[in-house]
Amino acid sequence: MEKQILSVVDSRTNDRYEFPIENGAIRASDLRQIRSGADDFGLMSFDPAFLNTASCRSAITFIDGDKGILRYRGYPIERLAEKCTFLEVAYLILYGELPTELQLKNFVAGVTHHTMLHEKTKNFLEGFNHDAHPMGMFISTVAALSTVYPDARRVLDPESRELQIRRLIGKVPTIAAYAYRHSLGYPYIYPDDELSYTENFMNMLWRMVEPKYRANPVLARALDILFILHADHEQNCSTNVMRAVGSSQADPFVCTAAAASALSGPLHGGANEEVLKMLDEIGSKDNVRGYIEKVKAGHGKLMGFGHRIYKNYDPRARIIKWAADQVFVATGRNPKLDIALELEKIALEDEYFIKRKLYPNVDFYSGIIYQALGFKPEMFTVLFAIPRTVGWLAQWQELIQDPEQKIARPRQLYTGYDAREFVPIEKRAIRAAASR
Ligand code: ACO
Repeated sequence: MEKQILSVVDSRTNDRYEFPIENGAIRASDLRQIRSGADDFGLMSFDPAFLNTASCRSAITFIDGDKGILRYRGYPIERLAEKCTFLEVAYLILYGELPTELQLKNFVAGVTHHTMLHEKTKNFLEGFNHDAHPMGMFISTVAALSTVYPDARRVLDPESRELQIRRLIGKVPTIAAYAYRHSLGYPYIYPDDELSYTENFMNMLWRMVEPKYRANPVLARALDILFILHADHEQNCSTNVMRAVGSSQADPFVCTAAAASALSGPLHGGANEEVLKMLDEIGSKDNVRGYIEKVKAGHGKLMGFGHRIYKNYDPRARIIKWAADQVFVATGRNPKLDIALELEKIALEDEYFIKRKLYPNVDFYSGIIYQALGFKPEMFTVLFAIPRTVGWLAQWQELIQDPEQKIARPRQLYTGYDAREFVPIEKRAIRAAASR
């Protein structure tokens, strides 16, 4: 193919530059050649919130936001949700290919082997207040595991990385279940090796005094599908954090805790909890129009709507809607669904939302299912973090193995004072606006 070139003329100097275009991008560092004079540092690109900057090459997840397409390693999300188990998809995301039966068996056994938490970690969890937010407990406990596994610092050792990946994927449901039971004051249930990933999680959440807990297979499958849908989503806010922290060669436990912290925010994974609060606030179908008018007038956002990449229906939201119908057959219909459907209908016909291409995202319907399954809203983001741990770890592996990557360190455009004369304390006057 003919080499693609971007030609640029700097109007300050009339100098002409040529930059190769590769994969639809130029290298931002090439711009440094553009200088207005000998002392000039070179041109930078300015991109707050990374609206138009690719920070890495990645072969894991493909999204076409205009067409509403999501694929893991080339496979459409719809097919994976229909045909696979969560750990099968986890294998695909981590290693690039769908596993054979034997590969899957070994992977499942490897993950299951690591579901137990060290007893000391359990003690650590017991130190939290009964009303501690489960996401805070989850983040802190994942970070604390870094002290339990100091070998995790050997991030350049592929065998060590593999071990930590299995440990993390194995332990996150156990931490989540312990956090849940802690908030209810229930005793902890140890993992059961004979159960599938999702059934084991449900067992640790909901088993009481019965000798054997049996998860409803419809609900277990719905949760498995939800896990598949949340497993990776290319360079979103939390994955970017995983890569940024990982770029300093910090161990994967603290990287994952950092990524989970980013996920907890209401504009990211925390939105699923906010959607439920919003539906509670709206209260009934009749109040939907009034609520939407308030949003349009600038009072808050429609939580669970809008996406940086999707400017079309989020394909995950479509599958979740389908899964919700299956769940409601088993649990009874969550009345909030009617409010959500009305909200979606009115918003999708409204000029404000059409013009800005705002569609329901993954968080819009997930909370309604989680609530029907019996979770309190505070748990919703933890339920997101469990499967996303797989995506974070796959992206972290890719980062560590990428020879082009270095410690992540953006530049800034300095807007502060030039050098100032120091003022002794007795001569200082109160100055307004110290926020610079
Ligand atoms: N409700 C109302 N208006 C919205 C919404 C919303 N949910 N989302 C965006 N807009 C408006 C903005 O106010 C802006 O309007 P303007 O052009 O008049 O200023 C326009 O749409 C563009 O929005 P941006 O904020 O520039 O979009 P951005 O890509 O930066 O933000 C985000 C994406 C954070 C997801 C945003 O849509 C949002 O806050 N949504 C609600 C929170 C949410 O659901 N988050 C979950 C996202 S999915 C996930 O992380 C798993």
